[in-house]
Amino acid sequence: MEKEYSNGEITVLWKPDLCIHSGICLKGLPKVFNLKQRPWVNINAASSEDIVQLVRECPSKALSIKGVKFKEKQNPEVEVKLIPGGPIIIKGGATVTDRSKTTVFNETVSFCRCKRSGNYPYCDGTHAQPKEN
Ligand code: SF4
Ligand code: FES
Repeated sequence: MEKEYSNGEITVLWKPDLCIHSGICLKGLPKVFNLKQRPWVNINAASSEDIVQLVRECPSKALSIKGVKFKEKQNPEVEVKLIPGGPIIIKGGATVTDRSKTTVFNETVSFCRCKRSGNYPYCDGTHAQPKEN
């Protein structure tokens, strides 16, 4: 269920079902995004500018800013990020094609490495769940 956190200037939207547990928000602004606090988002712990910059880095768009649609940067450096125990995230201008050479992505994409995703080959956050025996 979507949640909203507002400081009167910006409103952060949180869609837990989209989160792929990259930990980018937790590491980037730990005073704002902290799983040990309730609610886990403390919107007043950083400036609106810093929060917007961080939200922009969320690879799954689980985090977004109400009323703001981020565009992929023009001619960015392609960035490949390996999340320990999680997906490989490709950000930037990477073009991903399938076997028929059809372009399936030209924006940020997260590929599953644990092979447990229900949306394989894309990460759906399952790697963060305990394994069933
Ligand atoms: S996918 Fe987004 S919301 Fe989920 S942990 Fe990563 S940065 Fe945070
Ligand atoms: S790496 Fe995320 S579901 Fe496999």
